[in-house]
Amino acid sequence: MAVAARTRSEVESVALEVDGAGGKGLAIEMDVVDLASVESGVNRALDEMDGIFDVVVNNAGAFAVKPFAELSPATWYRLMAVNLNGPFHVTLMSLKGLEGSERAHLFNVSSIAGRQAYEGSSAYCTTKFGLVGFGEVLSLELEPRGIRVSTVFPGATDTTLFDGVSGDWDRSQMNQPEDVAEVIWKAFEAPPGESVQNVEVPPPAGVSR
Ligand SMILES: NC(=O)c1ccc[n+]([C@@H]2O[C@H](COP(=O)([O-])OP(=O)(O)OC[C@H]3O[C@@H](n4cnc5c(N)ncnc54)[C@H](OP(=O)(O)O)[C@@H]3O)[C@@H](O)[C@H]2O)c1
Repeated sequence: MAVAARTRSEVESVALEVDGAGGKGLAIEMDVVDLASVESGVNRALDEMDGIFDVVVNNAGAFAVKPFAELSPATWYRLMAVNLNGPFHVTLMSLKGLEGSERAHLFNVSSIAGRQAYEGSSAYCTTKFGLVGFGEVLSLELEPRGIRVSTVFPGATDTTLFDGVSGDWDRSQMNQPEDVAEVIWKAFEAPPGESVQNVEVPPPAGVSR
């Protein structure tokens, strides 16, 4: 399994966890904003995996909260670049690998902010709504070519996404990252007749959204 992000130490520790669990982890330093970085990272992963990807997860994302009237163009451009150009770059470069698999599955991690508007989230919601549209078109185009496409809709999840972002975040009400991984795994294992185009992440017990 290849794990990619910009911070080498973090991808290396995840790759080691994969090794420890009996798999084969590959750490790849990659900036999804930069097409050349994605191309070289994806090609490295393809080399290690005999040219075949069973699963690609577009998970990298950036978050910001600002009332629209105070939103800087730099923040808007950054969120578009990471949350929309990123999945575009990764999907484009991964297509050949997915086409080589007999159980190919592409996941785009959107958010409930891809269905519902939140104050202060014009840039984030725009990217996450956009990712839903991207996934719907890819479903039409890629499923006839044997590639399943799923959009994942997590609610608030206790990760570093909220670090340094102003707001009153109650982490005790949030999902854990493992909850998201679990629904992605279940969708990957779903039998061929079952629709997994939209993958929901149930809130933790006792929490309503
Ligand atoms: N946490 C939530 O409440 C929540 C809810 C719904 C949806 N989501 C979505 O879930 C996904 C994962 O978010 P998270 O909560 O795990 O956030 P996170 O803790 O901030 O992690 C984001 C990940 O994306 C990577 N990343 C950011 N920019 C990148 C870039 N330019 N190139 C490559 N990797 C990059 C980061 O690594 P580096 O910084 O090292 O590159 C990090 O591994 C995102 O798409 C997010 O929008 C999160």
